Amino acid sequence: MDICTRETLIDNDYVKELPVQLDFNKLKDVVDKAYGSSKNHQYMVTDYPYLHRIQKAIPILGWRWNIYKFPPNKGLGVHVDARRRACINIPISGFDTSVTKFYREQNNMATVYDPVKVLYNIQDSLEEVFSFTLRRPTLFRNTVPHSAYAGNEERVIISWGLRDDLGFFEAKQIIADLADVVIAAD
Ligand SMILES: [Fe+2]
Repeated sequence: MDICTRETLIDNDYVKELPVQLDFNKLKDVVDKAYGSSKNHQYMVTDYPYLHRIQKAIPILGWRWNIYKFPPNKGLGVHVDARRRACINIPISGFDTSVTKFYREQNNMATVYDPVKVLYNIQDSLEEVFSFTLRRPTLFRNTVPHSAYAGNEERVIISWGLRDDLGFFEAKQIIADLADVVIAAD
């Protein structure tokens, strides 16, 4: 992962790229070890010492995390998340050609709840307002309509819920002073 300076990080009303350097080989190991060991793809931080270390350094992170694998060219259509307001997504593999898009909210959007994916699919066609490729640990606002698709390879990410279900803007304030943190595996 390339070194970045604070100035080049994207920070807007939809995402905030975080100035943290993680050990991606270690994270790949964590994902390989965890994947499939939970029926609902949800895992606990306490079972993984490296994740515990990351949580200590980024004080908005909660105790539950997920692994999302999208096959090539597959993903999620326009939706809002049902049980979380914001999260931190961490790319693991196949993310370079993936695209996440955000859309302008409308009043009284027609939604259909998906209990398996725990989200509300949005039926209306909405105006795209921001397009983004996940390339580094990034805070996401899950209450704005968004979609995410893999590119031409399988895309694997860690999606990590926030402490006490913090909202996006509250979370941003808490980590406003976070600067160029390196979180080594050992
Ligand atoms: Fe989502």
